Amino acid sequence: MKIFYLILSLITTMCAIDMITPIPDNLPYDKTKASLGKKLYMDTSLSKDGKVSCNTCHNIKNYGVDNTSNSIGVDNQLDTPFNTPTTFNSVFNFVQFWNGRAQNLAEQIKGPLFDPKEMGLTPEILLQKINANPDYVKSFGDIYGEISVDNIADAIAEFEKTLITPNSPFDRYLKGDKDAISEKAKRGYEEFKAQGCISCHQGQNIGGNMFQKIGIFQEFPDQSNLGRYEITKKESDKMVFKVPSLRNIAKTAPYYHDGSIPTLDACVQFMAYYQLGKFLNQETVDSIVAFLESLTGEYHDNIQ
Ligand code: HEC
Ligand code: HEC
Repeated sequence: MKIFYLILSLITTMCAIDMITPIPDNLPYDKTKASLGKKLYMDTSLSKDGKVSCNTCHNIKNYGVDNTSNSIGVDNQLDTPFNTPTTFNSVFNFVQFWNGRAQNLAEQIKGPLFDPKEMGLTPEILLQKINANPDYVKSFGDIYGEISVDNIADAIAEFEKTLITPNSPFDRYLKGDKDAISEKAKRGYEEFKAQGCISCHQGQNIGGNMFQKIGIFQEFPDQSNLGRYEITKKESDKMVFKVPSLRNIAKTAPYYHDGSIPTLDACVQFMAYYQLGKFLNQETVDSIVAFLESLTGEYHDNIQ
């Protein structure tokens, strides 16, 4: 197994040119649907206790996260077992959730709405709440012709297409602006490739395009959630998770599926330890952190 990963990381490192690509400046989306979707995303009345919206945990003024290891859902419940990933750029991920159990954003949305620890609704109560609001009744009537859970999910998913962060210094660097990132960040990018990080964190989201095990060389201490195994029950899926995107990673602490790592510096060192069986010197860690900091992009809230 370890040999396999060594070879994999050697091959991918050799092919590492252009393994990261910039994200587009915008994605085509339907303005009226996205506008309705934003209202739904921000609306705390769509929860059991009237206090929690998508934005409570995935704050669009804060890179789509709340910077806690576990968020607080309805009735002040701690949202275990997972750390809240960002909604920013999630449209570019090949599947949704840490264990990849939703194929796309529309499917994902039905998770939190009906999760007893997150928004705590049932489909019936959700539809009652939407039907009781004349603005929603009019919008759904105009856009979709009817109110349904699928149409609610569709509108929110349309809004999520706007939660993207183009124009990070590193994307500008990739597009040819050689001064967009510091010399330290450039060294960090070289280390990121040379050390083998890029064999898992790659593509336009610098992650989000494959599943991998956490703890390839050293066992990950928190085995309380077994990742994809919980879905597939396959032995080989134990501790396998979606490789997270590293876009805006400097803004989305704490880290890992359990939110157990508070700083980016420690996160990089632990990645090398668990995934690559290496100990990196502080200079290398610092340069990789400088590279990761150059992945913070721009979000413009243009939806009315
Ligand atoms: C109480 C906090 C909370 C609320 C409210 C909440 N989420 Fe989440 N969200 C999470 C957590 C925790 C996860 C990770 C769960 C998992 O992987 O099983 C998650 C995962 C996601 C993901 C997957 C991202 C990825 O990279 O895999 C998306 C997209 C998302 N939520 C969107 C939403 C939307 C849209 C709403 C509102 C309908 C919402 N969330 C409400 C906490 C929350
Ligand atoms: C074999 C695949 C693999 C390699 C190699 C790898 N990673 Fe990861 N990385 C993952 C997985 C899987 C996770 C999610 C682990 C978890 O949540 O438990 C992750 C998580 C992370 C996170 C935290 C993301 C978040 O949102 O919590 C960062 C930062 C990170 N990796 C950076 C790196 C760096 C830097 C390197 C090289 C030193 C590296 N990774 C090497 C697979 C890999």
